[in-house]
Amino acid sequence: MLLGLVKRRVGKMILARTTRNGLDLRTLNLLPDSVTMPLQRVGLDPMPEMAEVRDEQPVKKLADLFGMGIWLVSGYEEARGVLAAGDAFSNDLSRIVSQDGHAAKDQIGGLGMTDPPGHTVLRKLLTPEFTRKRLARMEPRIEAIVNARLDAMELAGPEVDLVAEFAFPVPFEVICELLGLPIEDRAYFHSLGAARFDLSTGGAGIFDSAGESREFLIEAVARQREHPGDGLIGGLLSEYGDQLDDVVLGGLADGVFLGGYETSASMLALGGYLLAQHPEAMEMLRQDAATADRVVEELLRHLTVVQLAFVRFPREDMEIGGQQLKAGDVVGVSLLGANRDPALTPDADTFDPTREPTRHLAFGHGLHRCVGAELARMELRIALRALAERFPDLTVAARPDELEFRKLSAVYGVEKLPVQLRDPKLASA
Ligand code: HEM
Repeated sequence: MLLGLVKRRVGKMILARTTRNGLDLRTLNLLPDSVTMPLQRVGLDPMPEMAEVRDEQPVKKLADLFGMGIWLVSGYEEARGVLAAGDAFSNDLSRIVSQDGHAAKDQIGGLGMTDPPGHTVLRKLLTPEFTRKRLARMEPRIEAIVNARLDAMELAGPEVDLVAEFAFPVPFEVICELLGLPIEDRAYFHSLGAARFDLSTGGAGIFDSAGESREFLIEAVARQREHPGDGLIGGLLSEYGDQLDDVVLGGLADGVFLGGYETSASMLALGGYLLAQHPEAMEMLRQDAATADRVVEELLRHLTVVQLAFVRFPREDMEIGGQQLKAGDVVGVSLLGANRDPALTPDADTFDPTREPTRHLAFGHGLHRCVGAELARMELRIALRALAERFPDLTVAARPDELEFRKLSAVYGVEKLPVQLRDPKLASA
């Protein structure tokens, strides 16, 4: 019965006439500079304006667009408060993305943009797949995937692109295995994944690539309906196949697919970049699992690759951080701003794996908190420990100004990262 409710809700959401406020992200070609600051960085750091804004107004109106206030929440406590108040906000992006006349593949869906009660039911379908017990079963597979990539790098070295050889393929293969998908379309999905979070051409690029990816997953679900695979898609089909259609399941799988590799890939790439400059952190990774976990947590906090949470819309007029927000305004929560807030931990802009363990919002908080957080942690710990053990002298083989960091992406990352696997001086000694 509940599943019937989700279907009706999701269907209603998909069919709803939207753009009631006149803002349609699909057709917006350029975002005004005033709202893009939270997506820009200087290397791995937030823009200097972020600290100024956070100090002065941890909840600040950046602009009025089409009659809607666009708000930035950048203080740690304020950000956590918004994420915790799930009932007071809607995540339904179809409010600002026209759904009219768009094919199923182009509709908005997935867990992150679905409100309760649909969200509650869909999330319950996923959580059993991400328990520690299930994840422990994946551990040896992840180790094998990581070791195979390290062997391939060894053969391709001494200089390789860490993104192409390691950071992208490891989580990609893990997520394909989890969902039960073939890995042949790797290169195609790499470019699609990056485009999906890139706001530099407004909304259009995002929705084109999102449509392609959703189409692929809707088709994968349809194929597996005939011949269920042994991953998550096959499992959901065997259990709930008669109650959920291909579009709902494809949207759910798409959220897991994208959430599962682009984020972890960025963490491995930027993590590799940072570790290559911090031999003490490399040493801590090799030491033991508990010490390695501290490095991973500090990398998660410091890098905060998911810079901005899914946008939220207040359901009613409300006050937060002394500011008056109106129902239907757009609220961006800067997870990066929050995780670099000195109120959270001293000297928050410094990468310091020896700092007192601290809370952070790299996986969000509240009802939309990352469902894959424990998988991501496990993947990062296995991959980074193995990297530090195999290539302890890893160095970046490019100047910072030669690196192409993403410009306006909700998931921060770097396109390529040339690295030298072994110190040439030591290798020839
Ligand atoms: C280091 C890697 C990762 C980071 C930093 C990350 C970060 C996040 C964040 C910040 C959110 C919440 C956004 C919000 O509340 O607005 C989120 C949600 C989500 N993540 Fe992750 N994630 C990672 C890995 C993964 C993995 C491995 C998976 C799946 C295999 C995954 C699947 C999801 C899904 C499905 C959601 C939506 C949850 C919901 O709305 O209930 N993520 N992630």
